[in-house]
Amino acid sequence: MRRPIIAGNWKMNNTIADTKALIADLIPLVADAEAEVVICTPYTDLATAVEMTKGTNIKVGAENVHWAEKGAFTGEISAKMLVELGVEYVIIGHSERRQYFGETDETVNKRVKAALASGLKPIICVGESLEEREAGKVEEVLVKQVEGAFADITADELDKIVIAYEPIWAIGTGKTATKEEANDTIAIIRNKMADLYCADCAENKVRIQYGGSMNPKNASDLMAMPQIDGGLIGGASLKAVDFSQVVKY
Ligand code: 13P
Repeated sequence: MRRPIIAGNWKMNNTIADTKALIADLIPLVADAEAEVVICTPYTDLATAVEMTKGTNIKVGAENVHWAEKGAFTGEISAKMLVELGVEYVIIGHSERRQYFGETDETVNKRVKAALASGLKPIICVGESLEEREAGKVEEVLVKQVEGAFADITADELDKIVIAYEPIWAIGTGKTATKEEANDTIAIIRNKMADLYCADCAENKVRIQYGGSMNPKNASDLMAMPQIDGGLIGGASLKAVDFSQVVKY
């Protein structure tokens, strides 16, 4: 029921020239993929990415979106601007935004609402720090993040939303959660969704990815777990061959 979705998060990497080379390599490598394929790029690469992926099975996402339609918000980008470019997905609430740029559950929720209102599909990131995991606070932290992100979001919008569970300690560290840890923690998130909406909503509508040092070597083990519907890939999405191998796990 839940179609696997593998998304690359390029973060602050790739100039337009890099983007052209990477996407040209990637298109043939993932053309026969069964999973849904998404690349989330810096704003400056979006137009190039959308243009180059027209008529292919690769979809394009942004890495953030502001909640206002327009106005005095220097440095921000609105949902309307992204939709006009042909962007389909948008990452919201990545832990790097939360850690370095003051993103909160409240601003995540505002961005999610604005994205949905404009027809963008949010990829909402949640995840605990190592300190929180060691203190036994994983469930508490994730429940709070999920409740915050989904405030006022109705059940009929759930099939447009992807959740990415990204334990902060696994991001860019080469230290992946074990497949059992990832599966069990995603189950906590899915149970919370059942609680907030309905059992069928949680089971059939919401896709939940794992993210954190996912790569060609560990992707198939992670994707074999029943709760894991996809991956949000950082480092390994910057090389066409590596990303294609994750896509075809
Ligand atoms: P890495 O795959 O580089 O660990 O990054 C994961 C991530 O943050 C994706 O959003």
